[in-house]
Amino acid sequence: MDTFTAAAARSRDLNRRITEHPEQFRVLTGERPTGALHLGHYFGTIRERVRLQAAGVETLIILADYQVITDRDAVGDIEANVRSAILDYIAAGMDPAQAVIFTHSAVPALNQLLVPFLSLVTEAELHRNPTVKAEYAASGRVLSGLLLTYPVHQSADILFCRANLVPVGKDNLPHVEQTRVIARRFNDRYGDVFAEPEPLISAAPEVPGLDGRKMSKSYGNAISLSMTEDQTADAIRRTRTDAQRRITFDPAQRPGVSGLLQSASLCLGTTPEALADRIGDGGSARLKRITTDAVNDFLASHRRRRRELEQDAAFVDGILRRGNECANEIAEATLHQVREAMGMGYANAL
Ligand code: TRP
Repeated sequence: MDTFTAAAARSRDLNRRITEHPEQFRVLTGERPTGALHLGHYFGTIRERVRLQAAGVETLIILADYQVITDRDAVGDIEANVRSAILDYIAAGMDPAQAVIFTHSAVPALNQLLVPFLSLVTEAELHRNPTVKAEYAASGRVLSGLLLTYPVHQSADILFCRANLVPVGKDNLPHVEQTRVIARRFNDRYGDVFAEPEPLISAAPEVPGLDGRKMSKSYGNAISLSMTEDQTADAIRRTRTDAQRRITFDPAQRPGVSGLLQSASLCLGTTPEALADRIGDGGSARLKRITTDAVNDFLASHRRRRRELEQDAAFVDGILRRGNECANEIAEATLHQVREAMGMGYANAL
């Protein structure tokens, strides 16, 4: 059994424990503010976060701004992306009074953990990380020191707040494994400070983009949550399909048709096969019309809430200020304890 299958199997048991004792868990999750959040994020991660928080699990969300500079020169408008993500989290149902939402760049003590943590990993280990390898290959650039070491940075994201639960997909699973190794090695060397976090693999299906590849802002195949209805209709209209009248679900041969079927069926709560049967000989035009309505109907209340929140310019500021404050408090307490354990506690007393 590979690591992903094993982690998915353990996640079923974890979910039972979460339902029984939500107060025993703290979730740390997040993403890089590289662009607008889209339907893939919604079904893949956001919905799961809302579920965990509603179940009573304490939740911290990091907008990993320093991770944006791992693999690209042009970083885009990071501030706009941070603000937009916060609007989407709250519009999707995260409780602004409970969720701690913060950024890397605002929490110095978190970043400082990177120093001792780097001493606990080997260069060979970092080079073996499959996600780093894939991102390096996709970047088309030379390997930066930060891209090579960002899984260790991510370990600091998780361990600084003593999160014991990290919802992840395949891509981020190696980083949670790396985090567990770092926690173990730190404890072996300096005494018990960190608990090993557990990855929680969500049952959510991966949402393909409009062209059938993974939905991603950088592929230009995404329906972002913040698009207007017309922009959504345009993006769907531009999707490349084929001339066959009969609509069938066939991701390998008909990626465009199948990508649309998948987005629409997720929004309608049905399967792509059942939806294809329903459309029958209606061809691409009917498929696109149904998909546009399905997505726009599904996102209508999200977008309405989002627009309302946007009216209040101070709303996002308030969330970030409180989140950063809270994250700093936690990070400083952890760094204090880390220094103590490492025999550098003299800095604490000064
Ligand atoms: N690497 C994650 C992504 O791009 C973002 C991230 C940064 C993260 N730190 C994290 C996810 C800590 C989970 C836990 O998707």
